[in-house]
Amino acid sequence: MSASGALAHKHIVLGLSGGVACYKAADLARELVKAGATVQVVMTDAACRFITPVTMQALTNHPVYASQWDGREPNHMPHINLSREASAIVVAPASADFIAQLAQGRADELLSLLCLARPIERVPLLVAPAMNREMWAHPATQRNVAQVRADGTTVLGPAAGDQACGEIGDGRMLEAEELRDELIAFFQPKVLAGRDVLVTAGPTFEAIDPVRGITNHSSGKMGFAIARAAAEAGARVTLVAGPVHLATPRGVRRIDVTSAEQMLAAVLPEATLHEIFVATAAVADWRPAQAAGQKIKKDGSGQAPTLAFVENPDILATVAKLPPGDRPFCVGFAAESHDIVRHARDKLARKGVPLIVANNGPATFGRDDNALVLVDAAGERELPPGDKLSLARALVAEIALRCPRRAA
Ligand code: C5P
Repeated sequence: MSASGALAHKHIVLGLSGGVACYKAADLARELVKAGATVQVVMTDAACRFITPVTMQALTNHPVYASQWDGREPNHMPHINLSREASAIVVAPASADFIAQLAQGRADELLSLLCLARPIERVPLLVAPAMNREMWAHPATQRNVAQVRADGTTVLGPAAGDQACGEIGDGRMLEAEELRDELIAFFQPKVLAGRDVLVTAGPTFEAIDPVRGITNHSSGKMGFAIARAAAEAGARVTLVAGPVHLATPRGVRRIDVTSAEQMLAAVLPEATLHEIFVATAAVADWRPAQAAGQKIKKDGSGQAPTLAFVENPDILATVAKLPPGDRPFCVGFAAESHDIVRHARDKLARKGVPLIVANNGPATFGRDDNALVLVDAAGERELPPGDKLSLARALVAEIALRCPRRAA
């Protein structure tokens, strides 16, 4: 999903400490700039042995700082000036030694000095560890990581996988795009902190025989954007997805299903465990009454087979009828081609849900942008056209306003 503009007006101090993962920091700088941030790079001596300041300057369009003795600042205090201007300081890669410096509050290089000198309540610090798995697992490193977390630092990753040293395990730095998305998520308001959100997304596929079926054009993009926006807002998110080819948003738990019946079977036990249910899936209204066990063959008679259909269960309406103590706050979607608001209002009553989000189905299926109208008992509210992720964030804010916390 496009990140363009997601970091507009953010000024990021990107710190590099020594490690092979410095090569990924070049990509990260590019991703942050492409997302609209201004990026000021600060490098340790060790980082300068892995990648040159020239590369980082060229990618960010800003001269790099690598020494506290740098005389370019009129007051000769780069640690003060750089840290005061930052929306956030991101250290990627953060080496084991650098994390140890942070844990101890040491300040013998410009980067650790400015981390220590930053106004702690106003300038957040995020670190992306990168090191050999034994170094990561060492009790000293784990102690230091626990300490920097306790001091309010956000630790991003590390991931597990192949390491430059040839070993396999925990300690890989997250990829540039993952770090960019973590930073974008970090800046989102935590309007659903600690809440549990269940989302359905995508089409369903109803089998006719082992090789054929009926489905629809839903791409799943809106539902995946809602799952991501809810996770960014601090929720624990479960996403029940029909057959789509989309990456799972970071931090989201995903359950893949194919048919409407499978979707219902996946949703029902989860629904009672979640406070909010957003039914974005374009569930097929009907399924073949009987899926043939074998491929239906042409018999040469010129006669097409007759298919009988039965109605699928209505997942949203079923969840909306759960007893009040078990029932999540239910949000339905209405993808219509005409009379959008009228149909949405009908659905509000028919499904017994407090909020229906209406959109123009044919105009939005498969696209990255959309326009939404929120229809509830109080009236209608338009969310103006935008990309699906921005709309999803706006919708999540609206849901947070309307959804009271369930009594414990
Ligand atoms: O009934 P209709 O498809 O028009 O309603 C759309 C809303 O109901 C969406 O929120 C959709 O996810 C949900 N729905 C469902 N189960 C169905 C049909 C629709 O959950 N069988």
